[in-house]
Amino acid sequence: MQYSEKVMDHFAHPRNVGEIENADGVGTVGNATCGDIMQMFLKIENDVIVDVKFKTFGCGAAIATSSMATELIKGHTVKEALELTNKAVVEALDGLPPIKIHCSVLAEEAVRAALADYYKKIGREIDFEVPEKDEEACHIIPEE
Ligand code: FES
Repeated sequence: MQYSEKVMDHFAHPRNVGEIENADGVGTVGNATCGDIMQMFLKIENDVIVDVKFKTFGCGAAIATSSMATELIKGHTVKEALELTNKAVVEALDGLPPIKIHCSVLAEEAVRAALADYYKKIGREIDFEVPEKDEEACHIIPEE
């Protein structure tokens, strides 16, 4: 299986790994295909994502895509982050092998789940599609 240099770089040196205490939005999603899990933390000021961190129990492709996704949304508005697609993340990584495309979905979904959490916290109506909450994932990674 061939991975691009960018995938290998983000896998070996993932950006923004960790947690944010008192995050403004936290999203936890599970991948229906492989059972892997991703958690995303957002710090948001004036609707701008000023900081983002992630944790994953996922494969190398999941690590690389979430790392890239955090770079793509950091410093951007909530609205821009909602426009992030897994396709854009995969393109930014110069592609993924077809069998690994399902892994990239985790990053997009975790961002959306975290933004939905933020909307809920500030009492804003959620006007976008939110991935279904993965009960098993929530069981493994307790949410605050
Ligand atoms: Fe599960 Fe890649 S195999 S996220």
